[in-house]
Amino acid sequence: MSHDHYVAIDRYLDDRFAPEDAVLQAAVARSAAAGLPAIQVSPGQGKLLYTLARMVGARRILEIGTLGGYSTIWLARALPADGRLISLEYSAQHADVARENLAAAGLADIVNVRVGAAAASLKALIAEQSPAFDLIFLDADKASYPEYLQLVLDLVRPGALIVADNITRGGRLLQEPPEPDSIGMRRFLDDLAAEPRLTSAAFQTVGLKGHDGMAIAVVTT
Ligand code: SAH
Ligand code: DHB
Ligand code: MG
Repeated sequence: MSHDHYVAIDRYLDDRFAPEDAVLQAAVARSAAAGLPAIQVSPGQGKLLYTLARMVGARRILEIGTLGGYSTIWLARALPADGRLISLEYSAQHADVARENLAAAGLADIVNVRVGAAAASLKALIAEQSPAFDLIFLDADKASYPEYLQLVLDLVRPGALIVADNITRGGRLLQEPPEPDSIGMRRFLDDLAAEPRLTSAAFQTVGLKGHDGMAIAVVTT
């Protein structure tokens, strides 16, 4: 099957399960107009994040890697009115675009975008004894996933989910010699699989974002 065929199937599924409303379409358009790379989750992946958040009754969500806030909107829409989402973003420009998109989505009061290197922001959240999160979405620089995993383990409650995007990157995961991102991702997958506090699954995906994959873990202790 050709790549076009997988894209067509993704569109077929998204028409049924993940139709984008005007707010999500406007977020994609505003992000593109601002020159942000079009690397946000697909609609179907956004609906997966939304559904996972609903499954665990999430009231507090942490996202690492905001970009223009597209995945943020999907996740924040799963929260109750008094829910909170904190999203960590290195680029002040990306954060500005995200804040505009979140305001247009009516989510400005629910979402807090924090600018800075995610590892430092995570350490600050731990130091300020942030209440635990119910779902954490890892989607920033891939080489740092192993560090993010260790830090977020101090920010979750039993039953919480940790979801990681981009675990195969078009199959480059196993390319030799490995890119820095792949070295980090392999280490992350090793750590995730071996982590006694988690039960985890990892899978490949095809479609609108090419060949990639996600990992999903639940905190068991
Ligand atoms: N979650 C978004 C996509 C995120 S793309 C969505 O699906 O809609 C990855 C983002 O991580 C980019 O905006 C990039 O600027 C940010 N990023 C890269 N390195 C980072 C770091 N060290 N700390 C925080 N964010 C980082
Ligand atoms: C890239 C980052 C992502 O989070 C993604 O989903 C796809 C691509 C990237 O940095 O190229
Ligand atoms: Mg991603």
